[in-house]
Amino acid sequence: MKTGIIGAMHEEILLLKKDIKDLKSEQFGSREFYSGTIHDKEVVMCLSGWGKVAAATTATTLINHYKVDQLVFIGLAGSIQAHLNIGDIVIANQLIQHDVDLTRLDGFPNVQSPFWKEFSFKVMSDSEKKASEAVDKFLLNLKKGDYPSISSTYNPTVYVGAIGTGDQFIASKDGKMKISERFPQILCTEMEGAAIAQVGADYNIPCTVIRVISDKADEEAHDSFTNFLFENISQISVELAKLVLN
Ligand code: ADE
Repeated sequence: MKTGIIGAMHEEILLLKKDIKDLKSEQFGSREFYSGTIHDKEVVMCLSGWGKVAAATTATTLINHYKVDQLVFIGLAGSIQAHLNIGDIVIANQLIQHDVDLTRLDGFPNVQSPFWKEFSFKVMSDSEKKASEAVDKFLLNLKKGDYPSISSTYNPTVYVGAIGTGDQFIASKDGKMKISERFPQILCTEMEGAAIAQVGADYNIPCTVIRVISDKADEEAHDSFTNFLFENISQISVELAKLVLN
């Protein structure tokens, strides 16, 4: 089983490079792909950059060139629902492109895309289970004090549910409301997950998406996101990625 691991930002992924054995790097377009093994599991890791196009082209290269069997994306998200707090972990069971809206074309003839109306993708149950097991193990290790570089006060709640994806950093109550009015099931929002899920659905490749809440997608989102990014996410995402592989 070969796993493609994608992150949108250096902080979310590049620490993992030091764990890759027999590291090889290759460039496609402007992206560097790092392949090798972690604990004897074949991996290819790539920094996608932000947004749906960047994520989709990265996922396509991982599938077509590297022939990965599964895709894993770990990173940050802004909460949409009020009960989610900064640091909480969300495992996707559904990924929705909240910024695609074709409802005005309802009834349009010759519609061919199977994803025409919703741009919403269910996560395969095996991938969801794998993600849940990895997160459970992460929390157990955290309690045991296995991660000295993660704050000992870090005590996240874990949610499984719908994650929204759009090409916008959401940073206003109004922006949040627009998403939750249309998709009340969305727990948090980010900029890549549902794009990877669409590519995965095209090729029948399972996708795992795990997000850590860095901000509340409101007027304070910029500062909260920046603080969380630099203080916490590298270690959390690396540990989660390694646990998903196992
Ligand atoms: N990723 C982390 N926080 C986000 C936000 N508020 N909007 C979009 N993507 C994000």
